[in-house]
Amino acid sequence: MTFDRSIKIAPSILASDFANFGAECEAIEAQGADWVHVDVMDGHFVPNISFGPTTCAAIRPHIKGVMDVHLMIAPVDPYIVAFAQAGADIITAHLEAGPHIHRTLQAIRAAGAKAGLALNPGTPAEAAAGLLDDIDLVCVMSVNPGFGGQKFIESAVAKVARLREMIGDRPVHIEVDGGVDPVTAPLVAAAGADALVAGSAVFKGGSVARPEAYGRNIRTIREAAEAAR
Ligand code: DX5
Ligand code: ZN
Repeated sequence: MTFDRSIKIAPSILASDFANFGAECEAIEAQGADWVHVDVMDGHFVPNISFGPTTCAAIRPHIKGVMDVHLMIAPVDPYIVAFAQAGADIITAHLEAGPHIHRTLQAIRAAGAKAGLALNPGTPAEAAAGLLDDIDLVCVMSVNPGFGGQKFIESAVAKVARLREMIGDRPVHIEVDGGVDPVTAPLVAAAGADALVAGSAVFKGGSVARPEAYGRNIRTIREAAEAAR
């Protein structure tokens, strides 16, 4: 993975057909996705269960580019090696998931993945201040994690802007996750985000059999974001 601040669209396969992950990953990449965002939920840190490292390993051969794994689990540390071995390029852990986030981020890098730090909507940007040299990505949650299809929380925009100032010229991506669509994408892109996760807004109206809708949705979000920069 090379670093740049171009807009990256990262469809979340949480909104795709769970019986067809391999083909869904191939379809979104063919339709212009930059990263594939993989939401792991444990029914403990968040009130929903999705899937784990075995599923990530199974879909990995169907992804040519970046596999962006968002862990909504607690604890994180016992599972880092499993997700790295499953082929995650980025492993993102929540600051709220445990008492030793610095150790977690170090363990992610030691396992050979890029380290992401996710912040819940109620966690201020300043909570990341001491960690900016230990991360490759900060994920600003613009919904409370656990479910797709929720409404975008507006305070995420100011948080992105604050993180953009704090990060300076460090090679740290700012990702926004939750309720990103053609209306909200320009707000966070203007504030400094470069990686946009979108589940419902990418997969709506399409399917593996009709992937052109994915392509139209991705282009609409990307164009709205790029026009706002
Ligand atoms: C929320 C997940 C998100 C979510 C995005 O817990 O981390 O990645 O699936 O879905 P939409 O774009 O539908 O809000
Ligand atoms: Zn996510």
